[in-house]
Amino acid sequence: MSRPVFFVTSEMYPFCKTGGLGDVLGALPVTLHKMGIPVAVILPFYRLTMNRHKVHQSYFGLPVGYPWAPITADAHKIVYNGVPVYFIERAEYFDRAAYYNTYKGDYFDNAERFIFFCRAALALIRRLNNSPAVIHAHDWQTGMLPAYVHYYKQYDPFWQNTSTVFTVHNLAFQGRFSSRLFDGCGLPPDAWSMSGVEFFGDLNMMKAGLNYASKVTTVSPSYSREILGPEFGYGMDGVLRERGSDLHGILNGVNYSIWSPENSRYLPRHYSADNLSGKKLCKDALIAELGMSPHLRNRPIFGFIGRLREQKGIDILYEIVPELMKRDIGLVVLGEGDAGFEAASMRFSQEYPGRYAGIVRYTEPLAHRVQAGSDSFLMPSRYEPCGLTQMYALRYGTPPIATSVGGLRDSIVPCPADDCTGFTFDECTGDAFLEAILEALTLWENNPQRWKEMVIRAMNQDFSWERSAQQYIDIYRSIGYGQETL
Ligand code: ADP
Ligand code: GLC
Repeated sequence: MSRPVFFVTSEMYPFCKTGGLGDVLGALPVTLHKMGIPVAVILPFYRLTMNRHKVHQSYFGLPVGYPWAPITADAHKIVYNGVPVYFIERAEYFDRAAYYNTYKGDYFDNAERFIFFCRAALALIRRLNNSPAVIHAHDWQTGMLPAYVHYYKQYDPFWQNTSTVFTVHNLAFQGRFSSRLFDGCGLPPDAWSMSGVEFFGDLNMMKAGLNYASKVTTVSPSYSREILGPEFGYGMDGVLRERGSDLHGILNGVNYSIWSPENSRYLPRHYSADNLSGKKLCKDALIAELGMSPHLRNRPIFGFIGRLREQKGIDILYEIVPELMKRDIGLVVLGEGDAGFEAASMRFSQEYPGRYAGIVRYTEPLAHRVQAGSDSFLMPSRYEPCGLTQMYALRYGTPPIATSVGGLRDSIVPCPADDCTGFTFDECTGDAFLEAILEALTLWENNPQRWKEMVIRAMNQDFSWERSAQQYIDIYRSIGYGQETL
């Protein structure tokens, strides 16, 4: 048996999810396990996370020693689809109402919480005493982990043959904190440098991951190129350019056992590319569920699902709502996020009753029904590291209209190509977005046959996880996975 690969992450569906990170971690480790890779996952034990699952084993008193000695953590192991999942318990950090923030803002001690989590994860791995080939960390919450492994190697032979992979899911969120938090975080003074964790006088956890990991990956090939420049690099472009060939872009996959119109638990009727009649029923049901005008059964409905933040271009969509509403179409916007954007969605609902449905909530079942019940999916993101919702839309036969960036560019074949699966536009402006929507509307109205062919092509796209997982395996192998301890 090869030495294991440990995932350390702040989200994993179905235990905890705020966005695509949760979906990815809910699927990739399970896929790797099915492909014969010995994997395990380590997560924080958030409130509401567990209960439903049977604990196989607990580990008490793991020595963490942060931020004051002798603090400890406990861990509980369950098995999810064949994969051991360990939850790190420390009530004052994780037994809270939310994961990272409340409506008042981020938790003030997020740095402390996630430094603690990284160190506790390593303390657990040490206790398990099965030296991993690779530890795979994700986003700023676990960015410090590669730094710890780098320094632990210097005095504990247990870590000698452990490499790290750090995956960037969103470079804009970096975990940037006051330099004061470096004190006592357990890294030696020389880590406080430009090639370490320091960034313009602050502690930057994303930068720690980028600098210390054996390999850095991000979630689409296009994004891996975009972040080398100043526009999408968010100050990290120089650091990333220095990593050269250690940086890889691997497109996320889709867990079709959850996200497909054949399998979804949440649809009133299943359907497939061979028989689209269920999609019509899903549309009718969505219209009824959201109290939209019944005449929209014969008119196109455009759906949006996502965090109401500038990244997602929600302001671009709002800018053109009045113009769109001059046409006889429906618009469904499911999302929560910035308070101003949430309020605007509610206002539009009042202004255009029956035709604009704004749902300011986080609800997994409705997300499936909006995917299935819409005719086309809107995604005007300013940047998009990968984006999963457009890939879900493709499978649900809901051709996306999206900006031509990042993973959107890598997953959508835009009209008018013969093999098109959706629409893209270059400039993230209201005008360009409107033009793309009107192009889609014209096709929907004037050429139902071509529209249907596009829907079927979209549904037949295959973004299953196996291909992406194989690329991760290749990276693991290049840094020691499969080679036994020397
Ligand atoms: P990101 O991770 O940047 O938010 P992705 O497209 O990768 O974007 O993933 C978003 C995930 O979050 C999808 O599973 C999507 O369905 C889900 N999601 C976003 N907003 C909501 C919401 N309001 N209700 C339910 N699911 C949502
Ligand atoms: C981030 C990105 C999104 C990506 C997801 C999963 O949240 O914003 O584009 O799909 O991570 O990798």
